[in-house]
Amino acid sequence: MPTSPADGPAQPDVPGRPAAGQDRPAAMLSVRDVVSGYGGPPIVRGVSVQVGAGEIVTIVGPNGAGKSTLLKAIAGLLRVESGQVVLDRADITNQRTNRLARLGLGYVPQSNDVFDPLTVRENLEVGGYRVPRPQLGARIDEVTGLLPALGGLMGRRAAKLSGGERKMVAVGRALMSQPRVLLLDEPTSGLSADRSTQLLTRDIRALSESGASVLLVEQKALAALEISHWAYVLALGRVIISAPAAELLARPDLGDVFLGQITAQELGPPQGTGATPVGPPPEASQAPARGAMT
Ligand SMILES: Nc1ncnc2c1ncn2[C@@H]1O[C@H](COP(=O)(O)OP(=O)(O)O)[C@@H](O)[C@H]1O
Ligand SMILES: [Mg+2]
Repeated sequence: MPTSPADGPAQPDVPGRPAAGQDRPAAMLSVRDVVSGYGGPPIVRGVSVQVGAGEIVTIVGPNGAGKSTLLKAIAGLLRVESGQVVLDRADITNQRTNRLARLGLGYVPQSNDVFDPLTVRENLEVGGYRVPRPQLGARIDEVTGLLPALGGLMGRRAAKLSGGERKMVAVGRALMSQPRVLLLDEPTSGLSADRSTQLLTRDIRALSESGASVLLVEQKALAALEISHWAYVLALGRVIISAPAAELLARPDLGDVFLGQITAQELGPPQGTGATPVGPPPEASQAPARGAMT
């Protein structure tokens, strides 16, 4: 196992990516022991996740692991039953979404979040409802600068767009309010392979370089890890691995790790310097069936 990202086989240059074991930047978003769900037994069962200033952090894990549920709880759409969510030192646990947006938290849900009857430009304007009117045009230009694919769509009605295009509009809409932390739930779903690569390697990187911190949930796990500084593997509502993304990418058993097939016990003591197996899920033997890792 490589001891630094530079030793691994697929170690792209991520500006600011910490070497294994290196300290992470100060937390911009801190999720501490969060328990949440839909009123029945908790789905997210004591999850702690951190996103440092300027970091891109990816959460991977099998379907049904609780990734979307976790983002909804952070974004104030589901009640946090216990634990805490902290945004740049302010406790934002169970705050209303309007207030969260004002404090600088952006959220793009997994399912569509655009207004069908409106054009793309109008959708962006809605996202920028807090931007002073005279600055709205300039902000739209900044957002289309970050997401060039939106440029050609401005006059189109959202209802007429493909699933992937709608997803881009949803990301653009969230960007309008200049979030300090952006939660993205599978932003590449519905996009072609080329568009997905573009969104991850160009747009989300540009976004991060513009100063936002990004918490990403992605099925295209390899591409997401390649642009990420840190990664968490979520299985059965718990974090089973917290490690530098480069370290996860370098693992020969990567496929099993993604699919939640590996418990912390099987991982053994942390190798390298940064990998931190965290509390195995007690029901790991019931891990979901294998799926394709991309
Ligand atoms: N709206 C809902 N109401 C009740 N249970 C839900 C709802 N959405 C998801 N769940 C449950 O939460 C679990 C985790 O779902 P989810 O967070 O969407 O997983 P992931 O995003 O990791 O695929 C699922 O197994 C599902 O049973
Ligand atoms: Mg999901």
